[in-house]
Amino acid sequence: MLKITRYPETKNKSLQVSSTADDYLLNYLKESDIPKGNLALVNDRFGYLACHLSDWKPYSVIAFKSQEKALRMNFENNTIQVDETHLLSPLDSFPTKLDLALVKVPKSVDLFRLYLNQINEASHNDTVVVCTFMTKYFSKQLLKIAEEFFEVVEQSLAWKKSRLLILKKPKKVADISFLSSLKLNTNIDIQQYPGVFSANNVDYATQFLLDNIKLKESEQSILDLGSGNGVIAVAIQDKYKQNNWQEPKLHLMDDSFLAVESSKLNLPSKEAHFHYTDDLEDFEDKTFDLVVSNPPFHFDYEINTEITMDFFEQAYTVLKPNGRFILVFNRHLRYNSLLKRIFSQVNVMVDSPKFMVMECVR
Ligand SMILES: C[S@@+](CC[C@H](N)C(=O)[O-])C[C@H]1O[C@@H](n2cnc3c(N)ncnc32)[C@H](O)[C@@H]1O
Repeated sequence: MLKITRYPETKNKSLQVSSTADDYLLNYLKESDIPKGNLALVNDRFGYLACHLSDWKPYSVIAFKSQEKALRMNFENNTIQVDETHLLSPLDSFPTKLDLALVKVPKSVDLFRLYLNQINEASHNDTVVVCTFMTKYFSKQLLKIAEEFFEVVEQSLAWKKSRLLILKKPKKVADISFLSSLKLNTNIDIQQYPGVFSANNVDYATQFLLDNIKLKESEQSILDLGSGNGVIAVAIQDKYKQNNWQEPKLHLMDDSFLAVESSKLNLPSKEAHFHYTDDLEDFEDKTFDLVVSNPPFHFDYEINTEITMDFFEQAYTVLKPNGRFILVFNRHLRYNSLLKRIFSQVNVMVDSPKFMVMECVR
């Protein structure tokens, strides 16, 4: 019996390590006579499928540091060896042709399209791609995207509120550019890969933060926590430039591989440093003058503020004495009392009926 758990852990019992969509997929494999071959697993967030199918020696497409940590932890707990050459990013090409690919459909249809393109490039005429999703998340766009890459697109019957999409016969597809861009202001365009937070415009909460943040020239080491495409760091760098202040050292960290890769495109400066990580463990205590964030509170379809709460404590730890943590959040999230428990001073910098920007001093 495999022992597979979530990383990061959660106290929320409604958040599970797998869904009936995973089990539908595993049952389908058991019942169909697909011979063992080169297998790719995509968007397998905790390595649940990778553990169950370890005898296939699958390739895993890893899009999040937390996903990689979960997979390594679950492999170790089940004495399964990790083959480093079988861990790929969403921007890598598969090193071999695939016979089978299993895809857990992500919330972002653009990311789904990127994944199917990656699989299509590695498909041969008999490759089978099985996508799985909870029926409530179905959209016609999924079919449209699947038909862009495969001739045959079949839907299974629903089973326990989940469904499969089976794709065969890859189409020849011209090279696709997956970068999109959005405007920070008249002078600055921000580029990003699919699935990165806030695709078509700067997020309203982020914009509210950027319109109201009061910066200080003396703050020269700055962390953008959950940096996404890097928009906050880019705007801060721009404000320093407009004021003729010395360019600060900017550190950007995000759990999403594609977010970090996007932010690298947006901040070519030598003073910008990028961290593909899901926590602040790698930073020394008392490193930063300022930590800024529009902190995460969901992951795909899941809402979970536990990670956010952890980040408040971690932000405190990496701040220098008197350093500031400035964050924006939706009013309904009510983080105030928690922030007051951690920081010596907590001030409302600005608020609106929808958002609050808080300044917390270590
Ligand atoms: C609300 S978005 C903000 C993104 C960007 N700063 C902006 O304002 O557009 C939160 C970001 O946190 C990232 N994130 C989620 N969980 C994380 C974690 N454990 N560690 C680091 N980043 C995380 C998400 O990938 C996402 O990019």
